[in-house]
Amino acid sequence: MDFSKLFEPAKLTKITMPNRLVMAPMTTFSGELNGSFSAQEITYLAQRAEDGIGTIITPACYCHQNGQAFERQIGCDKDSLLDSLSKTAETINNHGSVSFLQIHHGGNASKEIYTQQKPLAPSACKNRTGTSELPKAMTEDDILLVIESFAKAAQRAKKAGFTGIELHGANTYLLQQFFSPFTNKRNDKWGGNVVLPGRNLLENRSRFAREVLKAVRAEVGESYPIAYRISPEEADPLGYSVSDTIDLLKILIPYGIDIIHVSSWDFHKNLRNDISAKTNPTYMIKNAFPYMPVIGVGGIMKPQQAIEVLEQGIEFVALGKILMLEKDWVKKVQNGDIDLIRTKINSEEERQTLDIPDRMKEYSKKFLLIE
Ligand SMILES: Cc1cc2nc3c(=O)[nH]c(=O)nc-3n(C[C@H](O)[C@H](O)[C@H](O)COP(=O)(O)O)c2cc1C
Repeated sequence: MDFSKLFEPAKLTKITMPNRLVMAPMTTFSGELNGSFSAQEITYLAQRAEDGIGTIITPACYCHQNGQAFERQIGCDKDSLLDSLSKTAETINNHGSVSFLQIHHGGNASKEIYTQQKPLAPSACKNRTGTSELPKAMTEDDILLVIESFAKAAQRAKKAGFTGIELHGANTYLLQQFFSPFTNKRNDKWGGNVVLPGRNLLENRSRFAREVLKAVRAEVGESYPIAYRISPEEADPLGYSVSDTIDLLKILIPYGIDIIHVSSWDFHKNLRNDISAKTNPTYMIKNAFPYMPVIGVGGIMKPQQAIEVLEQGIEFVALGKILMLEKDWVKKVQNGDIDLIRTKINSEEERQTLDIPDRMKEYSKKFLLIE
């Protein structure tokens, strides 16, 4: 099979992406306690760049300390972290990849143990599964502070030399919490009544994402690339659907999104099994915005699978867990050693040989299971 399509550069309006491969953002739980990238983390990102993954998206980086959701999460919330950010950007860029800093706020997933305060969220209700801490409903001032934090964080990313930023609007964190009817029960201009199950007053529910994007764009200028990561739908039929997401994107895109990154655990599956969801969400979004570059992700391990996605018109394929298992994915594809790509581990001893930070090895026990 011819895999050359994976390695074709893609000229976008503002940048050229070296090829069609993207490292998915993956939290490593390995930052320093002050929020800077650790040496192990930089090495881990650099190895994937050196291998030839054209675009490296960093792990989620909190824009304000009050949004920290993970142990040893990296931060981009203060100027004192600029050295760490610059070193990371420079290392990735020097290997010929483009670098995107993922900017994040955990919302109800933030943890008091890291933030020393109650989590902030649109409303004082736990996440859909009831597993989060009980957050405090954000005041207008809280909202404005977080919007400003996103903008300042983006400015730091630019100053540090990252090629672009990705706003983490997915995976049930703060940006998504404002859009979801499960976590946004506000009646003010940041929320608004749900008029039908899952069908919201879009204008209000999209306001937070819109204001974040507007503030970020104003801070970084017109020519700086911004990717937006979005979860296309919620599993529960009472949640938002792909068509709601498309409506949201229609509102957001004019404020300056350059790339849409459709977050998914399995590219080929819908979360919903009700009638509204019979088509692949990433394709639905691509079809709605044919002029927008799109990144697809989820369960793609082999180059054949990546090619299938590209052949359907999706411009980029992000690789996540497979890059934890393999730091030489590109080399193996280019050398015709596809069968040598490691897609699972067989023992705890083998886990210890993975080229990932030590703490990430520990955390990986939750999802890289020994079969
Ligand atoms: C250890 C781990 C950490 C993750 N951290 C992030 C993150 O920081 N930001 C994010 O948007 N997604 C995160 N994800 C989701 C991945 O980016 C990706 O969407 C998901 O793993 C599915 O792709 P895959 O099957 O190729 O791994 C994480 C996933 C894993 C396994």
